[in-house]
Amino acid sequence: MMTKPPLDKGNPIFGHSIKFNNDALSLIQDLQVKYGDVFEISILNERVTMFMSPSATKHIYLDPEDNFSSKHGWEFSLGKAFENGLMLRDFDDHKFHRGLLQDSFRRDALVNYLHIIQPILDEWIENLKSKKSFNLYETMKGLMFKISIELFFDEIDNSRLKELERLFTDSIKSATSVVRTPLPFTKLKKGLKARQELLTYFQKKAETVDIDKKTLFSELVKTNKHETGLSNYEIAEHMIFLLLAAHDTTTSTLTSAIHHLSTNKNFYEQLKDESNGISFTDIADLKNGLKAESLFSEAMRKYPPVPFSVRYVMRDTEVENYKLDGGTYVAIGPLVLHNDERYWDRPDTYNPERFLDTDEINDSYFPFSGGAHTCLGKFFASYLFKNVIYKLVTNFDNISSSEPLSINPAPIPYPRKDVKISIS
Ligand code: HEM
Repeated sequence: MMTKPPLDKGNPIFGHSIKFNNDALSLIQDLQVKYGDVFEISILNERVTMFMSPSATKHIYLDPEDNFSSKHGWEFSLGKAFENGLMLRDFDDHKFHRGLLQDSFRRDALVNYLHIIQPILDEWIENLKSKKSFNLYETMKGLMFKISIELFFDEIDNSRLKELERLFTDSIKSATSVVRTPLPFTKLKKGLKARQELLTYFQKKAETVDIDKKTLFSELVKTNKHETGLSNYEIAEHMIFLLLAAHDTTTSTLTSAIHHLSTNKNFYEQLKDESNGISFTDIADLKNGLKAESLFSEAMRKYPPVPFSVRYVMRDTEVENYKLDGGTYVAIGPLVLHNDERYWDRPDTYNPERFLDTDEINDSYFPFSGGAHTCLGKFFASYLFKNVIYKLVTNFDNISSSEPLSINPAPIPYPRKDVKISIS
């Protein structure tokens, strides 16, 4: 028998929006105790049905009948600043664009990217060597931004670096703004203005980019050489979205992983051993780095960089006997599944070894989503993560921190307060 999900309206004015921003995990876990795994809540003035079971999550990601729109779902949470990025396209149109972008993520292109980022990583390490400690999140964010700049913006004149960082930060901030109309002085208005400037920047660059440089940008520009390829405007739109997709995701995994290492000397030493003799630009070598992989997996389990995915319901349909009306939203929550003790042994404990001890695939694990929109950068993200970790353990005998790390896991994970890491 089909049934309607139970509705919890929350605060009469704000619904659940504020609590969701402050502590999404405990909000949803409390509602699960009350209603079970499926319930409807109100966020940003829209009613959203939450499906918090592994099977419904898989069904919605795979979406065999094209019932769920990623475009309208993400538009709802990201606003207009990332319009026409890959996650903001659907079905045949998405398939076409994904096909064109996919080429920029082929194996030999990734090797080129790894070569391009080596000098930036080496400069970062040299800089750390002159210090006794560093602010973890701030440093990771800076490093990931520098890497994105090099790979995404191609050659840029240093005097524009700060300006580009500001434009990009404004675009991201607009995505988490509670005000959803671009009124004067709002984050959204600022974000949309920043988008315009970035679009102009990328379009101009696309005309003059040096194809031989083998950056992600030049790879993408190559696709417009075909008759059915991308226009410079479309390339600019994809670049803006790629910056978002690549930047905060890798920053947050590195932040929690490095903090874990700063409190676990034994694992740090094991990673040092693993990194021995590895070439950091060789994909086969990087793939063999199982301990670093387990650290990456655990970072994404505890604090998935995309903690929730939202989809718009295109037409009346049902999921696991729950009736859904067309024109409403559904959300699935890797953050909630990854921290559910029904599926994980002591989920509160940050323990990379849980991924080493077992050959079984846990079907409650969705760090890169699934189906048509599965993360396009997932392999590159893992190689980049391992590069940073290996560079760190091979260059420093010891890293430590006496400060606990408290992460607010949604809408994107970030530390409530940055922590200091001491190095020697
Ligand atoms: C730890 C790092 C990362 C994580 C956990 C991650 C996670 C995700 C997830 C969950 C999605 C899909 C969301 C949904 O279906 O609703 C996604 C999409 C995407 N990601 Fe990543 N991502 C990471 C890094 C990267 C990097 C480094 C790049 C590019 C260099 C990238 C490029 C993309 C793209 C292009 C999409 C859109 C795919 C599509 O819609 O077809 N990601 N990512």
